[in-house]
Amino acid sequence: MNKQRRDTYVKQSKIDGYRARSAYKLKEIDEKFKVFKGGMQVIDLGAAPGSWSQYVSKVVKNGKLVSIDIKDIELIDGVTQIKGDFTDISTQNAIKNHLKKKVDAVISDMAVNTTGIKNIDSIQTGELCKEAMNFSKDVISIDGYFISKIFMGGTFNEIVAEGKKIFKEVKVFKPKSSRKDSKESFIVCRKLR
Ligand SMILES: C[S@@+](CC[C@H](N)C(=O)[O-])C[C@H]1O[C@@H](n2cnc3c(N)ncnc32)[C@H](O)[C@@H]1O
Repeated sequence: MNKQRRDTYVKQSKIDGYRARSAYKLKEIDEKFKVFKGGMQVIDLGAAPGSWSQYVSKVVKNGKLVSIDIKDIELIDGVTQIKGDFTDISTQNAIKNHLKKKVDAVISDMAVNTTGIKNIDSIQTGELCKEAMNFSKDVISIDGYFISKIFMGGTFNEIVAEGKKIFKEVKVFKPKSSRKDSKESFIVCRKLR
């Protein structure tokens, strides 16, 4: 709790109206890789409470955003929200039914409820990342982005290798706003092979 209170990103998120400090991780990714532009279609996986979706709706003008989570997401103006488990084929079909064309970016901050056992957490969240990567193959445009949370250890090497088979550009990036003591990083993939 003390750590939360001292955290400058938590303070800043209150000032900026973001629901979580995670928004600043996506902002840093965007500043480094110049991902978001007007008119983009974006899918946000594991979107609750909604700070990534808030960021995307702010920076992507005249675009389309579909946000998915098992949990409820408080409404965000202009965002299509789907409540469901992404690993269920019915949820994946529901997402596809909302798309009229290939999307420009699939972003995923999905993470399982942590057990505290770092290797297990890393493997389970890695499985979500692999599934999201496979899904993105079907739905993104040729120049599209796939951006996902990934944990060091566990299935990290396997996921990076898989990413390189699917995409021409694959980078791993740890934003400054990602806590130093967390094994979290982000994989940023672009351009389908
Ligand atoms: C770190 S939080 C996401 C924070 C969010 N990016 C934000 O900025 O507000 C991870 C989310 O992944 C969701 N999640 C985990 N497994 C999921 C699954 N199988 N399908 C959909 N959402 C899932 C959790 O419910 C949780 O809300």
